This record gives sequence, structure tokens and C-alpha cells, in this order.
Amino acid sequence: MKQADILLVNVEIEDVVSNVVIRDNVIESIGEKSADAKEVIDCRKLWVFPGVIDPHVHMRDLAQSYKEDWESGSAAAIRGGVTTVFDMPNNVPPIINTENLELKRKAARKGKLNYLLYLGATNSNRDELRRILDGEPDDIAGIKVFLAASSTNEIMDNVKELRRIFELGKEYNRIITVHTELQKFIAPRYKYPLKIENHNTIRDRKAAITGLEICLTLARNIGNKLYIAHVSTVEELEMIRKEKAIGQNIYCEISPHHLLLDETICPQMGNFAKVNPPLRTKDDNAALWEAISDYTVDTIGSDHAPHHLKEKKCAYSSALSGFPGLETTVPLLATCVNKGKLSKGRMVDLLSRKAAYIFGLNKMNGLKEGNAANLTIIDPAGTDTISGMKNLSKAKYTPFEGRKTKGQVVYTIVKGELFKCEERRKKV
Ligand code: DOR
Ligand code: ZN
Repeated sequence: MKQADILLVNVEIEDVVSNVVIRDNVIESIGEKSADAKEVIDCRKLWVFPGVIDPHVHMRDLAQSYKEDWESGSAAAIRGGVTTVFDMPNNVPPIINTENLELKRKAARKGKLNYLLYLGATNSNRDELRRILDGEPDDIAGIKVFLAASSTNEIMDNVKELRRIFELGKEYNRIITVHTELQKFIAPRYKYPLKIENHNTIRDRKAAITGLEICLTLARNIGNKLYIAHVSTVEELEMIRKEKAIGQNIYCEISPHHLLLDETICPQMGNFAKVNPPLRTKDDNAALWEAISDYTVDTIGSDHAPHHLKEKKCAYSSALSGFPGLETTVPLLATCVNKGKLSKGRMVDLLSRKAAYIFGLNKMNGLKEGNAANLTIIDPAGTDTISGMKNLSKAKYTPFEGRKTKGQVVYTIVKGELFKCEERRKKV
């Protein structure tokens, strides 16, 4: 028999120490069996997790490849232990029709990652979406709806059409994913002084809460599978909790920055902290933690949204929202595990298993024989200080600048290919 690709020894999976044999992009065996392999890694004292799935990424590329492209984005993901991404459609050109979807598919193939792509809904592209979905594509994560402007995206503000998009999602059994901030609650608030310290007032929490209310009602009436992107407030969590309690098919994503940062960093970080939804308050951070504990939160998505430095280092009103996140999610969350704020099992749920379940990625649901060979291997004792300059993303900044982390990605295995991340880190 030909050599295996990778042999992991001393892997602790649910309290049992095993060997893991990887061959031809498949986890061939987990157990006592060993094999002659091209690469052998001793995983004693390491955490071996199913590959991290980041369900919320903006890879850019196409006309915005100066911000990021699938090659730089893949390098960033791999350094961050991310093996699979779901890419958002607010590109230039936007992924709202077949032609642009084909451009995106071509770009995504340049990367090294597993991926699913989102289709963007607008007030007028329902027939286009139907044509695409008629082809039963297997590389589509779902339909993304933006209820407000945020960087470059088309706003859906026609309520009748929104209902029809939800109906389309139901008809084709596709997830509807929503950025719930509602435009009409944002525009009037531009009366406040335009500075980053007011971002959380200008994009008032009421915008997200009201948009969520509309979507929950639609999903309840139509019977949708609904995925709420980057939930950031106490109120939204409470609404989602109630909705889950009555058995609705709804899922809740949060982002590391809404969990671990709050608006008080704005004076120091300036527009590097500008993101939509905005950084909220410490009470909201606490509510997010509680919602992790009681399983209201399903997934963590980085909302990796790289912009050029020039697009951040400018006046508040013209600065673009968002920042890179692919390289920081895992070390940040591993640090929380090390501090006892989160269990390892819960970290794996939030960063991998639950997304695989929700989006039907059956070959990615945990470390199992026969599953695809996507793994994230972490040295829990590894320490680092987050620095945007070390990013492999084209965006060399981060709102977590200077934060100390304990728990570093040392190997990322994507589709059976081994990447040694520590070496990469040293090279930068
Ligand atoms: O801050 C954000 N940036 N929020 C979004 O919803 C979009 C994203 C982007 O694409 O830049
Ligand atoms: Zn986003």
C-alpha cells in the first residue's frame, strides 16, 4: 500500500489517545492503527480539532483584490487555523447573478480552502437567484440579505420583496442569512457628531433589533431556516432565545470582536474599531457569554472584512467598516479556554461542529473516520501578542492589537495538505 500522507500520533480525542492516519484527503483511521507516512506529527500536549469553519468571511478579490484576494485570504485563514470559509456576496461586482457568481467561483478556486459561497439578495434579483438555484449548485451556503448599507452592498429595503426572498429560500430549502441592521433606523442618526466614539449611537442598536424582529416574523410565518449573522446585543439574544424555545429553525452567530471588545476602545483604536454592527457595551459582552453558555449562540464567525489601510486611516464618515479576523479567532478563543471561560468541547462546537451541522457539511462534522481531512492543531501553551503587522492578510491591522494570547495554531491541515503554521509565523 502506498505511503499515507500524514500520521498524527498521541492524539487525544474524547479522553482516548489514538493515532490518526490521513490519506488522500480522508481521515482513514482513528485508533491504534499506525502507518508509514510522509509526515509524522507527535500531538502529545496539542489540541487536535476538526478544521475550523468560519461561516462569515469577506474574501474580496475581483475588483477589490487590493484589499484581499483568495490567495492572501487563504494564507491568512491557514495561519489562523481556518480550513473552510463561507464567503459573503458584497463584492465588486456583487454576487447577485450567474455571471458574477462565475467570476467568484473562478477566484475562489485560486485559494487553498474549502468554501461555500453566498448569493446576495436585492430588491430586484429574485428571478436570477431562482435560475441559479434551479441548477441545484452544491457550492452555495445560502442567500444573504443586508437590510442596511455596510461597505459595498446592496440594501434590501423593499419589505414585499424581502418576503418573496424568504419564500424563495423556503421553496429551495436554502438558508437565509441576515445582516439585520435596518437602514431606516440608521440614516436619521447621522445627526450625531460624526466620530467613531458615536458609531454605536449612529448605528443604534434599535436598527439591529427591529430588523431582527421583521426577519423572525417572516421566518416564523414562512417556515425558513434562518441564520442571524453577528448578533451583538442583549435584546437580540433574548429574542433569539425565545424563538428557539418555541422550536423555530433559527441559528445565531456572534463575532469575536462583539464578544471580547466594547465601544470603550474606540478613542484609542480610532476607525480601526469601525465595524458594523458596531462594538457595543460591556453588558452586551456579558450577555454574549451567557448566550454561549446556554446554547443560544451556535457559531462564531470572524466577519473577516479587510479594507486597505487608506480606507481606515481617514475621516470617520468616509472610513470603511470592518477589519480582518481570520488570523485572530482561534488564538483568542483558545485563550478563553486557557482562562477557564470556555470548555474545549464548546470551542469546537462554536468554531466547527455546529456550522457543519447547520450547513449540511456532513464530511466535516467532527473528527471521524471517513470524514474529509481538515484539522486544526493548537499548542495550548503557545503564547503570542497579536500584531496586525504579522497578518498574512493584506490588511495589516487589527482591533486586538497588543493583546496577549495563549493557544496558537501550529498546524492546519486542509484537504489532506499539511501547513506548518509556526514556521509561517516566524517568517513574517
Ligand atoms: O463592518 C462590516 N464590514 N460589516 C459588514 O456587514 C460588511 C463588512 C464589509 O464587507 O466590509
Ligand atoms: Zn460581514
